[in-house]
Amino acid sequence: MTTSPLNHPRQELDRSLPIGMFDSGVGGFTVFRQLKKILPNESVVYFGDTANIPYGDKQPGLIHAWAKNIIAFLTTQRVKAIAVACNVSSSVLTEADFAESPVPVFGLIYNGATAALNVTQSNRIGILATAATVQTASYVKTIQRFSPETAVFQSACPKFVPLVERGAFSGAEVDAAVSEYTAPLRNAGVDTVIYGCTHYPFLGASIKSHLEGVHLIDPAVEIISELAAYLHNHNLLRQEGPAPDVVFASDLNGQFINTAKLFLGIDIRPISSQVIVNPAKANS
Ligand code: DGL
Repeated sequence: MTTSPLNHPRQELDRSLPIGMFDSGVGGFTVFRQLKKILPNESVVYFGDTANIPYGDKQPGLIHAWAKNIIAFLTTQRVKAIAVACNVSSSVLTEADFAESPVPVFGLIYNGATAALNVTQSNRIGILATAATVQTASYVKTIQRFSPETAVFQSACPKFVPLVERGAFSGAEVDAAVSEYTAPLRNAGVDTVIYGCTHYPFLGASIKSHLEGVHLIDPAVEIISELAAYLHNHNLLRQEGPAPDVVFASDLNGQFINTAKLFLGIDIRPISSQVIVNPAKANS
């Protein structure tokens, strides 16, 4: 399970296989839901790394090692493609990781960055993201690679993921955090803001109310469009109705199960609560 994906032989892709997806927790459900909306016949194998959440306050090297382990694990589950439903994991995976995986892997950063560039009029883009994603500056670098004249303003939002993970999607505490983290972007006069963490659309009502008149970009929409185009072009779209979805969590908890039910309308039946042995933790 901890084998590097680079050591796997390239798999034969079969269009009836599911799509692999992962995040630190429930954030990737926003990508899961978008997949079901656009490609209802596809099924999902989802991994939530709840034992290690939040990723946003961890070191990039550790997040990179976890991402590679999870990609290797999803590959063993026989998936035809993997959507990295986590911005910070997408930020730390390298071009070589994407290129050498035995199944095609799709990330969020390029998708979110290009979508924002397509709508901005003022060339002033804001990023709401975890501290780790802000540290990598992945959105800044990607946006400025295509458009060096665009100014990018990042706002780290450490309170958001714990709020979402405990099911607090609205209310005074959410509004106070949203007000705090959107203020620097409002003051910078951005006309476009990227949800730079897949947990943040859960707080969308409050975020929209604090960023009135600003285009909000959810990279989940773009990553699923890219995936759909890829599956279509490679004759990999599933023809029959969906198979059951499978959800793994490294530390299955009640709130994770509740959010899956509330947000995705799916029941998670616990089978195993520990499927990946994290070498960093196992050795400590
Ligand atoms: N949802 C993840 C992201 O998109 C990470 C959240 C976290 O665990 O800090 O970046």
